Amino acid sequence: MNPTQILTAALREVAGAALVLDADLRIVAFTDEAADELGHPPELGVPAPKILCGHGEERPVAEALAAGRAVSAEILRPDEDGQNYPILVRATPLRGDEGQIVGHLLLLHADHEGRPDGRATESFGIVTRDARMKQLLRDVRKVAASQSSVLVRGESGTGKELIARAIHDGSSRADGPFRAINCAALPATLLESELFGHSKGSFTGATRDAPGHFRLADGGTLFLDEVAELPPEVQAKLLRVLQERAVLPIGGTAPISVDVRIVSATHRALRKEVEAGRFRADLLYRLRVIPLYLPALRERPQDIELLARHFLEQHPSAKHVDHIAPGALEALVAYDWPGNVRELQNAIEYATVMGSGRVLTAADLPPEIRGEQPGTRSVTVPDSTSEDTASDLSPEGRRLVNALERNGGHMGRAAASLGISRTTLWRRLKRLGIDREDI
Ligand SMILES: Nc1ncnc2c1ncn2[C@@H]1O[C@H](COP(=O)(O)OP(=O)(O)O)[C@@H](O)[C@H]1O
Ligand SMILES: [Mg+2]
Repeated sequence: MNPTQILTAALREVAGAALVLDADLRIVAFTDEAADELGHPPELGVPAPKILCGHGEERPVAEALAAGRAVSAEILRPDEDGQNYPILVRATPLRGDEGQIVGHLLLLHADHEGRPDGRATESFGIVTRDARMKQLLRDVRKVAASQSSVLVRGESGTGKELIARAIHDGSSRADGPFRAINCAALPATLLESELFGHSKGSFTGATRDAPGHFRLADGGTLFLDEVAELPPEVQAKLLRVLQERAVLPIGGTAPISVDVRIVSATHRALRKEVEAGRFRADLLYRLRVIPLYLPALRERPQDIELLARHFLEQHPSAKHVDHIAPGALEALVAYDWPGNVRELQNAIEYATVMGSGRVLTAADLPPEIRGEQPGTRSVTVPDSTSEDTASDLSPEGRRLVNALERNGGHMGRAAASLGISRTTLWRRLKRLGIDREDI
């Protein structure tokens, strides 16, 4: 820990949700609780009034800060639904030896009572109540109106292809074709002819002309899935096509111009692939004019129940189910979802096929989600003393412990990942008799 981190921990101990500003009102430190109250960690170096005083009625705080006066006033912050909730801000100027103002201390107190759970929204078939996902959907609408290349990053099953389709459907190209190709699935030569086409006789097996995905997507959108896996020679060709807006099919004589919007996706950090020499930097910049990020399902636990119900409603074999038992929901929320939304979709299908009766119970779920697999505990719980605690944890307890483990024991981050405040997490752990030292 560096001294600032220690001082921030001390500040948290005495002040809870607090921001420290320098004399220019820029944020120099904040506590986890402040990030909780604001809904996200504020950026260091950003002028605080920009974050806190967006609207006319919140000028008292801005004015008092600018004038170096102490003030206590309410500001309004938009929540996930764009509705405002009040935060009480108490600002105190901090003075140096000569009495000059060296900074400001801001204490925050949010009124969370009556703040609804993020309301569910659906657009383009994408269902969510997570604040980051809602922002993403707003971004998607803006992006769709442009012609820019988009790179969607996210773990497998988070909905990258769904986003690509949403961008297409929301764009002026919606009436044109949408073509998807998985760059990881084919060897280089095949991929090349799939993408750029070939003329009859250009290689053994080329028994007729093939247009290739670029020409088939003309006037529409081409989705390049798993784009990080493109072999180097295909990367070079793709770059040329993007630069020249024309494709030269294998064995072809003249380039054919194409009008295609590119949306690509990867589960990898492409920048790292560039650093490792596996991906061309110039191609990265072409593809990633607009980057979009899809959070993993485990990072938006509020969406688990919502999506489970959504898939239940959709699935034809689920007609008999009209209720999800609390125990089943707990198991769903406690699970880590390495396969994200796709895995949840499959788990619901499994439950509707294997289960019977009107209530979907924990017993209907796939075994790995029921949490009955021997050995999983000893893998996730690092030391032997905690094994006793972990083995008889309730699903809720297990979920809290999992979140803490994933976040290296960091309360603030674990709470944020669960969509609850740090104090709530602390209270629940206490209620369940879980000692943090055991984790
Ligand atoms: N937010 C969501 N709402 C509804 N369905 C979703 C959502 N996210 C993903 N899905 C569904 O989950 C499955 C996996 O999504 P997909 O876009 O193929 O993921 P990826 O391309 O990231 O692997 C698809 O059937 C998709 O329709
Ligand atoms: Mg996919």
